[in-house]
Amino acid sequence: MRRLLLLSNRVTPLQTGAGNRGATGGLAVAIHDALSESHGLWFGWSGRIAESETERRLNTEEKEHYQVTTIDLTEAELEGYYNGYSNGVLWPILHYRADLMEYHSAHFEAYRRVNELFAEQLAQQVRPGDLIWIHDYHLLLVAQELRKRGVDNPIGFFLHTPFPAPEALTALPNHRELMEGLCHCDLIGLQTRTDLRAFLDYLRFEAGGKVLDEERIECFGRRLRAGCFPISIDPDGFAQAAAQVRNEARRRLLISLDGRRLLLGVDRLDYTKGLPQRILSYEHLLEHHPEHRRRIAFLQIAPHSRSEVPEYIHLRRRLEELSGHVNGRFAELDWVPLRYVNRGLSRSALAGVLRIASVALVTPLRDGMNLVAKEYVAAQDPEDPGVLLLSRFAGAAHELDAALIVNPLDYEATGEALHQALAMSLEERQERWQAMMEVIRAQDVTRWWRSFVTRLAEDAWEA
Ligand code: G6P
Repeated sequence: MRRLLLLSNRVTPLQTGAGNRGATGGLAVAIHDALSESHGLWFGWSGRIAESETERRLNTEEKEHYQVTTIDLTEAELEGYYNGYSNGVLWPILHYRADLMEYHSAHFEAYRRVNELFAEQLAQQVRPGDLIWIHDYHLLLVAQELRKRGVDNPIGFFLHTPFPAPEALTALPNHRELMEGLCHCDLIGLQTRTDLRAFLDYLRFEAGGKVLDEERIECFGRRLRAGCFPISIDPDGFAQAAAQVRNEARRRLLISLDGRRLLLGVDRLDYTKGLPQRILSYEHLLEHHPEHRRRIAFLQIAPHSRSEVPEYIHLRRRLEELSGHVNGRFAELDWVPLRYVNRGLSRSALAGVLRIASVALVTPLRDGMNLVAKEYVAAQDPEDPGVLLLSRFAGAAHELDAALIVNPLDYEATGEALHQALAMSLEERQERWQAMMEVIRAQDVTRWWRSFVTRLAEDAWEA
């Protein structure tokens, strides 16, 4: 296999040996495998802040089979590139929330500079024959910057978020510049057919490109290809971890449930995840189906995320208010209907907790894929599986159509779907679970990265 150079904002190599693979994030395992097999290199931000540009350090670590190189960013770079532009502008636009975008041209300049910095560092490492794989919206301009530095190796890009319809993307002041930059790649990977269609529509109708099909695109004077590569997990590894884990978190949770059925949500605290709507759906359930009161408990795990971006601070307040409201309204001396927890769980604790849950609520307003949906399915006991309530706006809904599909904006209907989930027969739960597990097994995370890298390595664009 050709050497793979992988770029992403965050770099999270596996700490453990092969032993803990099942419980480690699927993506981290996949990248570890891809890099190990190709004796590659992973490049990104170190997670550290440099006092000044001259004091920034380049850190290189040799793993068993690959190299990890990271770079420090200054406070100002981080503020402009990460908080300001990537998460204050691109993230809301990509998730159809132009109303939440806070655009400042200075942040875009910082974004461009950090993309240049990444390209400058990587260009020094590239050897003939290497394949370059760039990940996610933080690094849309890196390919173009690499080309400017004479790199003509195959470059692939995978977008982990949704790709919005052109009408939504064009709300972004720099859309053309970014898309032109991106088209310096040879292969663009999207999560779903809808994302792929939106990308091709943009090139066709906004950028005046020529799109014969996804394999033959001409735009901005370049030739490229695009494809749909739904990201996934290692279902058997995760299932094994979920079945085996017997840790303290699981034990304590089981004791506290005292035989009640668990409804579970696990999300980064992010406005794309539909958390307020989810709590309102739960309130609907408790109000209109009082027979469930005292018999269930809803645990929402929502670790803080991007806490320096203003919109995330608002959301935090809103959720504190709403969870207080539902508990104030329905709690009894010995029953708390909603447990709202801002701490994250380790991967193995998560696997154990997912297995216990009778219902998982994966109800984002928009989500590129949502791997928790797939992890929940993999974690179930095949003899007595739980029910997945899944938003139609999650990429995962394209594959997991045997879940209970809901529109999270309609919280009354979502509340009714929760009732349906709690009442579902064992037979129906098993049927739905089997259908979902088959899909996840057929398209696992190894297949995801292998198919992308294979396509990227395929020779030139054919007319
Ligand atoms: C999403 C993005 C990732 C990002 C992750 C966590 O899944 O697609 O690129 O790493 O969120 O967000 P953070 O800002 O903490 O890296």
